[in-house]
Amino acid sequence: MNEVTTRTLPADTAGLAAAARVLSDGGLVAVPTETVYGLGVDARNSDAVARLYAAKGRPSFNPLIVHVATIGQAEKYVEFDDMSRALAQAFWPGALTLVLPLRTDAGISPLVTAGLDTLAVRVPDHVLAQGVLAAFDGPIAAPSANPSGQVSPTKFSHVADHMTGLIDAIVDGGECAVGVESTILSTQPVPTLLRAGGIPTEAIEAMLGCDLAQAGDAAAPTSPGQLVSHYAPKGCVRLNAQSVEAGEMMLGFGAVDAPVNLSPSANLIEAAANLFDALHRLNALGADKIAVSPIPDHGLGRAINDRLRRAAAPR
Ligand code: TXA
Ligand code: MG
Repeated sequence: MNEVTTRTLPADTAGLAAAARVLSDGGLVAVPTETVYGLGVDARNSDAVARLYAAKGRPSFNPLIVHVATIGQAEKYVEFDDMSRALAQAFWPGALTLVLPLRTDAGISPLVTAGLDTLAVRVPDHVLAQGVLAAFDGPIAAPSANPSGQVSPTKFSHVADHMTGLIDAIVDGGECAVGVESTILSTQPVPTLLRAGGIPTEAIEAMLGCDLAQAGDAAAPTSPGQLVSHYAPKGCVRLNAQSVEAGEMMLGFGAVDAPVNLSPSANLIEAAANLFDALHRLNALGADKIAVSPIPDHGLGRAINDRLRRAAAPR
């Protein structure tokens, strides 16, 4: 792919208008959301979506999430059932993605859905993501703004370090508050968790009054493109480590002696917000082997452990 000039856009009205122009022109612009930075394109423009897959080096069988401003906008692209509508009303704007039947008149590029008859949609809870949606006034397909398989970006510098020369622009919008990607849910044929994420599973189960099935359970739908090895730092990763072994660098959680600690006070919300920056920092420190403290598997800990398991998976 030819090198492109990557512009930095300010987090103001002029910057948001420039980001919207990039999208209208079929370009690629990275925008912060409350979860991670997304790499946005016009979801109706197949040429733009093809450029997006190329810039990320992403397998084209891995479909994208479409971001819209409101539930009303989402209705233009997907069919809501009663349960999905209740979930959207409870959790949008926010870190919940719903996989719903694609409307036949949606006009979304088939590259976005990788040819499926469902579409993943969410309404982001971030003033800059909402600002770009308002200025563009259309559906924005956006995966995380990192090269496929690598650590997701939660700061402007993470995007600039890895995507400069590959994308048209980056909105410089500070740090992402949640720090892990959205929770992905399908309600059909049974309510199913497709990816643990920024909205804790327990909150969704409490709202629905039932347990969620897991992708892979009998009768549950699956999510294509959930890569086993993902979020991978340069070093290899060992999970549930009580102490460091020779040559390892510790990624701590709680009161442990570690050069990088997700949350010294063992707070899972803080740990999620710090997770990807911690992996970027361990890369910068040249960590060849990373030993990770045990992380409790509830609340945001489920999303953190999901990402760490993929970071530790054989590549
Ligand atoms: O928080 C997030 O979700 C971020 C921000 C930018 O919104 N986006 C994000 O996108 O994490 P990405 O591309 O890294 O992950 C999207 C996941 C894919 O792994 C894919 O499996 C799933 O969403 N997905 C997309 N469309 C789907 C569909 N129709 N059915 C099932 N899973 C789908
Ligand atoms: Mg991603």
